[in-house]
Amino acid sequence: MNTALFVAAAYLIGSISFAVIVSKLLGLADPRSYGSKNPGATNVLRSGSKKAAILTLLGDCLKGVVAVLLAKCLGPQYGVAENGIALVALAVFVGHLWPVFFRFKGGKGVATALGVLLAINGWLGLATLATWLIIAYAFRYSSLAALVAAVFAPFFYCLMFGTDGMLLAIVAMSALLIYRHAKNIGNLLAGKESRLGSKGSKKK
Ligand code: G3P
Repeated sequence: MNTALFVAAAYLIGSISFAVIVSKLLGLADPRSYGSKNPGATNVLRSGSKKAAILTLLGDCLKGVVAVLLAKCLGPQYGVAENGIALVALAVFVGHLWPVFFRFKGGKGVATALGVLLAINGWLGLATLATWLIIAYAFRYSSLAALVAAVFAPFFYCLMFGTDGMLLAIVAMSALLIYRHAKNIGNLLAGKESRLGSKGSKKK
């Protein structure tokens, strides 16, 4: 019962779309109306506001951190087992993808996944972030960096902690993240994906 409450709370936390909220607060256009139409930091950057993009990134990342840390710190005293914490990790990510507050139309989950991984273990999060940074620096594609990092994250976890319920949650998270990047994969293969920093790119 308590596990279900933690999972539901995580889903609700994940449902807060910082891309939409930050853009509204800063008087910018709704990110669901331009660029890739994705409510995420990369697309908010296409508005031209680095401040909005950074705030979106931090907010979406922080909700992953908060949900998992809450479960890790408070969960055990309420009888939430390790596998329950793994469900919480998945729930906050699912909330970002299908947010109840935004008609279930959410983002692709990159920043939230990073927050989740950082809260599971700092080194796991940093290794995944380093993977993202290396690919983003080398190829200038945010989506490609996210896809490669998503493939590596379960391997990093497995190397550090072996196989358990949390590994399953991370595999599910990576699979969903890749699924949500289907359009980006098509654009990458067709050479039509917009590069990081390319101004005014309006990817359909
Ligand atoms: O964080 C999402 C990123 O990987 C791709 O975003 O807007 O280029 O589809 P976008």
